[in-house]
Amino acid sequence: MNIRASNTPLSDWSGDGLAVGLFENELELTGDLANLDQKLAGAFKELIDDEEFKAKPNSTAFTRLSGGGSIRKIILVGLGKAEALNAESLRCAAATVVKLARKQKCKSLAINLPICDDDAAKTAQAITEGIQLALYQDNRFKSEPEEKETQVETVDLLGLGGQEAAVTRADQIASGVMLARQLVAAPANEVTPVTMAEIAQVIASEHGLEIEILEKEDCEKLGMGAFLAVAQASDLPPKFIHLTYKPQGTPRRKLAIVGKGVTFDSGGLNIKGAGSGIETMKMDMGGAAATLGAAKAIGQLKPDVEVHFISAAAENMISGHAMHPGDVLKASNGKTIEVNNTDAEGRLTLADALVFADKLGVEAIVDLATLTGACIVALGNEIAGLFTPSDELASELQKASQSAGEKLWRMPMEEKYFEGLKSGIADMKNTGPRAGGSITASLFLKQFVKDTPAWAHLDVAGPVWTDKDNGYNPSGATGFGVRTLVNWVLS
Ligand code: BES
Ligand code: MG
Ligand code: ZN
Repeated sequence: MNIRASNTPLSDWSGDGLAVGLFENELELTGDLANLDQKLAGAFKELIDDEEFKAKPNSTAFTRLSGGGSIRKIILVGLGKAEALNAESLRCAAATVVKLARKQKCKSLAINLPICDDDAAKTAQAITEGIQLALYQDNRFKSEPEEKETQVETVDLLGLGGQEAAVTRADQIASGVMLARQLVAAPANEVTPVTMAEIAQVIASEHGLEIEILEKEDCEKLGMGAFLAVAQASDLPPKFIHLTYKPQGTPRRKLAIVGKGVTFDSGGLNIKGAGSGIETMKMDMGGAAATLGAAKAIGQLKPDVEVHFISAAAENMISGHAMHPGDVLKASNGKTIEVNNTDAEGRLTLADALVFADKLGVEAIVDLATLTGACIVALGNEIAGLFTPSDELASELQKASQSAGEKLWRMPMEEKYFEGLKSGIADMKNTGPRAGGSITASLFLKQFVKDTPAWAHLDVAGPVWTDKDNGYNPSGATGFGVRTLVNWVLS
């Protein structure tokens, strides 16, 4: 699909569908739209009146124009109140329009939406993201493609001529989000630690990143006893993935992104029981998917920042080789861990991944992990938990997530709760009491970051998946995290 920043005046455009955004309480047609309405014999005015269109956020009205003119259908989309307009409302409005246009069999579409925050580039980027992400369809696992719908082929962004670079940037970011969605949606027999490493290889060669894949033996040499214990029951080898994007010249900053890459979480010997959602645990590499999605986007955007993308990828399985509940493991920083629950495996893989990242001499590390059901209980399915001792990094990430339209909520890192992880035999246990489970999980992770000035953990267990079509996120994997990470790196 081709999205074009267009200079064509509203009144001159011709094609299958022309969509116009309107604000609540501002339904008087003015300027170019009034002229076009006149040219179309009052079709817009009539549509507003007939449908009693109020321009509530993401409401729509449409009609076919008779008379064989140069526009087949006109579409109205509500933008809500003018003062509330922002990048996210544009993303949602654009998504609403393209989904309707697809249903209405419009191959060529034009969208006329207002500029937000006096920033045409931001506007073009948000609209393009909304379009690309809303039209995403995943037919990889159907023997025959389901969609018989006509596809939207071209979209002209009216009033945004000259914003080609912003459209390209959005296309690049969307390609990262879509990779993350594909990785999360693919079942565990398709996306394994081995295929994750292969996909990282493809990103490296397509976009010029450096790549290092540590095999099991390499991880043994580094003393990654926590990561390897999680992997040891699987018939598939673990893969420790490290991609590096280096800009030309001296980097402005050096950063690391670490993603939990458990390609299937059975729970291990503390097996997930009935009603635990074990059949959804292919999504347990959502953090790694966001990490690789961000790598794909950053590889194309080429910012002046060095970024390391890391995932310790493994399956949490059951066999005669499985770690036992009660085992004591030694992580690569020398700390010992009593495994009182094999289902708290993500933090074990992250422990060694964080120690590795901590040795890279970066300014900041952000990890993303589908870490705890407790975080979903706390924040629901649309908000990720943000845990960090650093106010500065917290505010960087909050800003990045805000403009990305991905919600984060800062959670407390109550040091006192670390008592819940005290072990009689080792330095710590891997799980504490049920209460405050996402907080003790983040306190556990904190033990593995020592030298890096700032670290943050995002618990993305809720938002990596949506059961219902939600604006520009069709039901299924959302690709959550990619846009926040990209914004953070670019900031
Ligand atoms: N992968 C799960 C967390 C999860 C739950 C992700 C639901 C997505 C949706 C994680 O490995 C896990 O099993 N966590 C346990 C921790 C517990 C044993 C302390 C949990 O949340 O129940
Ligand atoms: Mg688990
Ligand atoms: Zn898990």
